[in-house]
Amino acid sequence: MPETPASSSDATFLADFHRVATIGATDNNGVDRQAATPEDAQTRDWMRTWAQSHGFEVRVDAIGNMFACLEFVPNAPYVLIGSHLDSQPLGGRFDGAYGVIAALFAALRIKEDVAEAGPTPKYNLAVVNWFNEEGGRFAPSIMGSSVYAGLFDLEEMLAVRDLEGTSVAEALSAIGCAGTDTPPEAISYAEIHIEQGRILEREATDIGVVESSWYTQKLDIDVIGEQSHTGATAMADRHDALVSGAKVVLAVHDVTNEFAEEALVSSVGQHVVEPNSPIVVPRRVHMVADLRSSDPEIVRAAREILLRRIDDIARGHDITINVEDFDIREKRFFPEAGVELAEKAVANEGLTIRRLETMAGHDSVAMNARVPAVMMFVPSVDGVSHCEREFTTDEDMVRGVGVLTRVAGELVHGELAGERDGEVWVGRSVRTGEKAQR
Ligand code: GLV
Ligand code: MN
Ligand code: MN
Repeated sequence: MPETPASSSDATFLADFHRVATIGATDNNGVDRQAATPEDAQTRDWMRTWAQSHGFEVRVDAIGNMFACLEFVPNAPYVLIGSHLDSQPLGGRFDGAYGVIAALFAALRIKEDVAEAGPTPKYNLAVVNWFNEEGGRFAPSIMGSSVYAGLFDLEEMLAVRDLEGTSVAEALSAIGCAGTDTPPEAISYAEIHIEQGRILEREATDIGVVESSWYTQKLDIDVIGEQSHTGATAMADRHDALVSGAKVVLAVHDVTNEFAEEALVSSVGQHVVEPNSPIVVPRRVHMVADLRSSDPEIVRAAREILLRRIDDIARGHDITINVEDFDIREKRFFPEAGVELAEKAVANEGLTIRRLETMAGHDSVAMNARVPAVMMFVPSVDGVSHCEREFTTDEDMVRGVGVLTRVAGELVHGELAGERDGEVWVGRSVRTGEKAQR
């Protein structure tokens, strides 16, 4: 008879990871589990059952963040580890879910070590599933962790509506996740995630540790034309919002050519056409453009170029185009002491590591504004994400769980604990000058 793998083993981790990937599974190996949908609720139920059956206490706060808590030291603050279980529409099965399930197994291994008369930790430990990291249904993204970190206002976020007019508050209630629990108080944070780029794969490196995040800004663009008949209106009389909108989409793409190759990335992601009838010249096009660069000045310069170009398009078509800045994320640096902690953990696992930046947004970026955070990556095949083709091998996922376990083990024993100075943490080895951004 083959032996049943231990509950915290790599084999059990992989079985659980692949089991969760069946929730909201799409036809081509992806998942569709947008925030506060029935599929999101199913993954949350899975996490609750898993956590309770392994002796964790589950709490849900007012923005729907889920915490699976292990108390080692009464009244001590918590090291938080985790990511998010929600996905983009037709998204990949690794983005976010890998980090939460890896964190559950890392926490279980630490719990087992402590139970086997390991040294008593200095801090408690909780695994967190942040609400609505993806922002596909409710914008802005990174919502739950940003509320927790004090960057977004709770009431404003509960009032955000999706395209059907459902609010975050209503959607959370509908899945029974409008929580009333007090969240655990964080002392530090660690997250592991797929890279979503191809650096680790290209360089055959096992783990990436993030030093900084890219400056990001969205533009909310509303093109207001005039509704009329597609067949019966004279061409000279048309004020077609989609024609102008299409030129805006091209401008958002083409502005990247004004800068060094890959220095700026941009796309219009969401695009809503009204009234969207085959026989009606569109009256309104609403879209969201996403501009990102490692260098904040490049994004600011691109924004200026775009505003001028959009003004030209509006004049040329005698149409109104309203543009608003939205979801500006500063470039943030992760504490050097956390980067070094990850490097040490990786060396102890006998693996290779390199430092990099994250172009994608993460809950760790929000958390790093509140407590010292460590962000690590495992390789992504072909560097793709936010699509069904997203892929990371089992071997790479297992390596990441080992590294996260070591990092979280150091954190619960007091490494990298942030000392609070009012609203600002003063981490060890924070680079001079960058604290002011927080
Ligand atoms: C989310 O995935 C983001 O990159 O903002
Ligand atoms: Mn993610
Ligand atoms: Mn994502």
